[in-house]
Amino acid sequence: MHDVKPTAGLSKADAYLELSGQLAALIAGERNGVANAANLSALLFGLPDVNWAGFYFLQGGELVVGPFQGRVACVRIAVGRGVCGTAARLRETIIVPDVDAFPGHIACDSASRSEIVVPLIQEGRLLGVLDVDSPKLGRFDREDAVGLTAAAELFLKGSDLGRLVA
Ligand code: SME
Repeated sequence: MHDVKPTAGLSKADAYLELSGQLAALIAGERNGVANAANLSALLFGLPDVNWAGFYFLQGGELVVGPFQGRVACVRIAVGRGVCGTAARLRETIIVPDVDAFPGHIACDSASRSEIVVPLIQEGRLLGVLDVDSPKLGRFDREDAVGLTAAAELFLKGSDLGRLVA
């Protein structure tokens, strides 16, 4: 069993350092992409003010929901649609301080007020996106982008994603 320490009370940068350390321990010796994505979702769901955390993987040219924590989500998102599809199309991290102000935002959990989506890119190939939602307006900033990108890179490096992406 892994002892996952709470990140509450830490600065954002320290919380992400702690999270990356926990992720490294959880995925050490394990390359199964589903397992590692599931555990990363659980770690991210433990961050303060997060109501959804998880993955969409590119399958048959569209984003299909993968392991996540939170309320049930839309299963398929076309590349270019919503925040997830836009991050996938642009291959850029997107921070949305107010989801109501993002044209085309796809509401899965009506409690979500802000969102960040990080593209998953391995050797130049888009594999999907990592999506984290908050019930708080303006929850995510550059520090979150840096911390989540680091966690995503650790996950991509340590996981065999062949079965997830087609
Ligand atoms: N809000 C996302 C959809 C995914 S859910 O938030 C889990 C979007 O606009 O792409």
